[in-house]
Amino acid sequence: MTRKTPKREDWTSAPAGPLAGELRVPGDKSISHRAIMFAALADGTSRITGFLEGEDTLATARAFAQMGVRIDTPNPSERVVHGVGIDGLKAPAGPIDCGNAGTGMRLMAGLLSAQAFDSTLVGDESLSKRPMRRVIEPLTQMGARIDSEAGGLPPLRIHAKQALSGIDYTLPVASAQVKSALLLAGLYAQGETRVTEPHPTRDYTERMLQAFGWPITFDAGHARLDGGHRLRATDIAVPADFSSAAFFLVAASIVPGSNLLLRDVGINPRRTGLLRALRLMGGNISEENRRESGGELVADLHVRYAPLHGIDIPERLVPDMIDEFPALFVAAAAARGTTRVSGAAELRVKESDRIAVMAKGLQSLGANIEETPDGAIIRNAPLVGGDADSAGDHRCAMSFAIAGLISQDPVRILDCANVATSFPGFVDLANRCGFALG
Ligand code: S3P
Repeated sequence: MTRKTPKREDWTSAPAGPLAGELRVPGDKSISHRAIMFAALADGTSRITGFLEGEDTLATARAFAQMGVRIDTPNPSERVVHGVGIDGLKAPAGPIDCGNAGTGMRLMAGLLSAQAFDSTLVGDESLSKRPMRRVIEPLTQMGARIDSEAGGLPPLRIHAKQALSGIDYTLPVASAQVKSALLLAGLYAQGETRVTEPHPTRDYTERMLQAFGWPITFDAGHARLDGGHRLRATDIAVPADFSSAAFFLVAASIVPGSNLLLRDVGINPRRTGLLRALRLMGGNISEENRRESGGELVADLHVRYAPLHGIDIPERLVPDMIDEFPALFVAAAAARGTTRVSGAAELRVKESDRIAVMAKGLQSLGANIEETPDGAIIRNAPLVGGDADSAGDHRCAMSFAIAGLISQDPVRILDCANVATSFPGFVDLANRCGFALG
């Protein structure tokens, strides 16, 4: 069973700018998913503020409601979750629809592998093509029973299980989703679960488990926990999503005269590779009012136009900017000289094949971009405008909107409805600071 993307939406982004003003982009997607999950499994009531009301995270909230968790919405960016305790989930009446969300499906696969009921996880057209073997294999080693479609694709049919065993697992690819799936299964496992990563990835699962009182030890690239404890309700303040801020960081960096302030952005170092890359390219971005909020580093990011130059993106930055390459490709097209991206083959299995979709779209706008198996080579060339197909990928659609700002003629962006998965209100916010997007 595959859910189709509901409606088709095309946008036009016309040359515009400079960009100016102050804005707060919506809440962090990764943190919002996890906050719902851990609050649902905790003893007591947790309040989540700054929650991302995007389709991905709403799908996760609906999934837990289907499993008997009461979630109140006192206002759009707040959720009050009445936790049912670690063993309190109930069998859902039907399949759980994760929509477009790889994070939702992979993390829930870990959690549901350890429940005393059968469950089925389905997704939309894009998610139904994304590889799940990376979670199925290690979860199976822990004792889970998961059936998939051929090639390890969704839907996932997860069999009821009384107890799993811990695992000592080294991830073949850097993936916070796989790490988190194993840690979630590990909550229910007998003994110890240890995960080692080839490169450190975002550590929200580890930090949030700690905030909910589960004993866990972790440092860059390692996490370990034991099964058999309980989670204590706590309140979570979700910072603004760096990945949503990224579109404005790039846009203001490449449109002459721009000066933008992005408030309350989460700057966990495992997310801010783009900030470092843009600075290496000559970008002018400062972190103001740096502070800690709810256990996460947060700052206001002040970005001003600066002429960029091409660089070889250091491969060690790739996991820290894995969601930001569509925007980076646009920055690279505007930068003097040549930018080379390598070591980023994971981009081919995101919401779309982001190397192919961005290369094809930018080429049709006049850019000089060449695909490689694990990245791209982008040489400076003026953008002339035209049609760019986002292939239903939210981050590609928003990146083409940035390309429109610096094109000679408008850019028509096809298939943009999925922007609502991560960034509801993008068009209004963008227009408020100087885009000409409709
Ligand atoms: C995420 C991890 C990353 C990222 C995704 C969100 C998470 O995926 O691309 O947008 O919340 O754990 P991978 O684990 O597949 O790298």
